[in-house]
Amino acid sequence: MTRHFISISDTAQKDLERIYELARLRPQGDELAHVGVSLIFEKPSLRTRASSVSAVQQLGGHFCIFTKDEIGLDVRESSEDVARTLAQTSSIVAARVFDHGVFARMMAATEEISFINLLSDYAHPAQAVADVLALADFFGQGDLSSLQGKRVAYVGDATNVTRSLASSLIRLGVHVVVGAPDGYQLSADDVRVITGQAARGGTLTLCDNAPAAAESANALYTDSWISMGLEAEAAQRREDLQAFQVNSELLALADPAVAILHCLPAHRGEEITDQVLDSARSLIWSQVHHRTTAMLGILRWIQEGK
Ligand code: CP
Ligand code: NVA
Repeated sequence: MTRHFISISDTAQKDLERIYELARLRPQGDELAHVGVSLIFEKPSLRTRASSVSAVQQLGGHFCIFTKDEIGLDVRESSEDVARTLAQTSSIVAARVFDHGVFARMMAATEEISFINLLSDYAHPAQAVADVLALADFFGQGDLSSLQGKRVAYVGDATNVTRSLASSLIRLGVHVVVGAPDGYQLSADDVRVITGQAARGGTLTLCDNAPAAAESANALYTDSWISMGLEAEAAQRREDLQAFQVNSELLALADPAVAILHCLPAHRGEEITDQVLDSARSLIWSQVHHRTTAMLGILRWIQEGK
């Protein structure tokens, strides 16, 4: 059956563990020989675009990039017709989209393509794979079991990144705490899906207070307060989220060896201060490094299923 990588919650744990394993292997240069990969970006991107291109090239595949206006999903033509068209040139379509529901529609339109989600309003699973690899390096020199029993606090707006992070960590036995104000927290449905996949003693706790979330945390994660597409709400969001900034005072409440994570791009002085982002505790460049290893793992896992 054609493999897809659309969200962490849709991916079986054995498949995720295979992706983590494949991510660590040195590329041979021919794993994607003669394989076409279409890369669609409905939203801006630096890390995802760079790491996707790098991974496809390292595996010997060929790619074509389409930006929002070029491809016009559901504007120039239907997403279904885009999928059917790309099936003639590509066997993998990796896409950054506004509406997560587009993936189900494209998958229903053709069985010939594997789809990869490069960020949607709902999920950012490729980022979560990179975050798990960075945390495993930090806690246990790459050993995934070193995450078990750790406390990882996410503070700020609970986003697509938060959802994918919590889904992947709870399966590895992490105590995930999400501190967000009313209206910016994970939904009851998110909690049901995430906790339904808990393993190895992993838990999920929600709170509406940043200091309580950060207390004794082994890792502290935040993301933008104004995700792509929400720019019109910027002023209200800054006001509602200002008590959730990751700064030195919050860091002082965490474990003294706490790791700081951010998916980037960061809005310095907004959701996180320069001092914290650039501190010795920061794993942000390891996260960026693992965006490419994560894509190597995802692409190889897709190809293994063909
Ligand atoms: N973290 C991340 O996805 O970065 P880009 O938006 O730059 O791709
Ligand atoms: N939550 C952010 C993540 C950016 C990588 C967004 O969707 O814009």
